[in-house]
Amino acid sequence: MVRWSLTNARPSEVWSLIMAATPEGIIGDDKGLLWNIPEDMKHFRERTTGQIVIMGRKTYETIGRPLPNRINIVLTKTPPSTSTNPNLLFIRLADLDTVLLALGSGKDVYIIGGKEIYELFLHDERITRVYLTTVYWCLEPEDERKKDKLVSFSPEFIPELHKIFGRETWIQPETINYNGTKYNIKMLEL
Ligand SMILES: NC(=O)c1ccc[n+]([C@@H]2O[C@H](COP(=O)([O-])OP(=O)(O)OC[C@H]3O[C@@H](n4cnc5c(N)ncnc54)[C@H](OP(=O)(O)O)[C@@H]3O)[C@@H](O)[C@H]2O)c1
Repeated sequence: MVRWSLTNARPSEVWSLIMAATPEGIIGDDKGLLWNIPEDMKHFRERTTGQIVIMGRKTYETIGRPLPNRINIVLTKTPPSTSTNPNLLFIRLADLDTVLLALGSGKDVYIIGGKEIYELFLHDERITRVYLTTVYWCLEPEDERKKDKLVSFSPEFIPELHKIFGRETWIQPETINYNGTKYNIKMLEL
């Protein structure tokens, strides 16, 4: 599998994907995440605080605000002309290198979703790690009408992830049951 860099900047910091998905690859719906797992949110917060997070415009809209104590880079094809918050940058992919260079070195980069952005960076050679929370979430039969709103990876995505990043380390090895939602957390590495 050939991996390539979408842009060229900052080869020295660690670049990771960080995500939570069902075994089938469901990651959310039109309103955001489908589950609320405080320990997973804590894991996400501890990893990404003080670092740079890169997300798609739709994910930013479901969050509704910049994540605190992080530099938030929001990828969009049509950035607004001004932003008053120095920790919130709406940019085109083509401007990512320049923006990262201007931010300077020393921060790790986390690709935090959603689906389009994870798929965009999957084969970027700078990504060396994936933090993957597997959530055993199922659509209840009475929620069948929500099916069309679900956001899921293509069926190849999660197998491809495991194929590329083969070294597996457990962060939360036992499958925990939080209020009926079971999950575990692992790190995959090149
Ligand atoms: N479970 C998890 O870990 C997790 C994490 C994050 C998000 N999510 C979920 O993922 C879902 C959103 O995912 P999504 O795929 O619909 O949207 P997304 O990836 O968050 O954002 C898509 C947007 O990103 C921009 N974009 C995509 N490719 C680009 C490129 N090459 N250059 C510049 N901008 C580009 C475009 O914005 P413009 O239209 O403005 O051009 C596009 O509409 C939500 O359900 C959210 O809750 C889940």
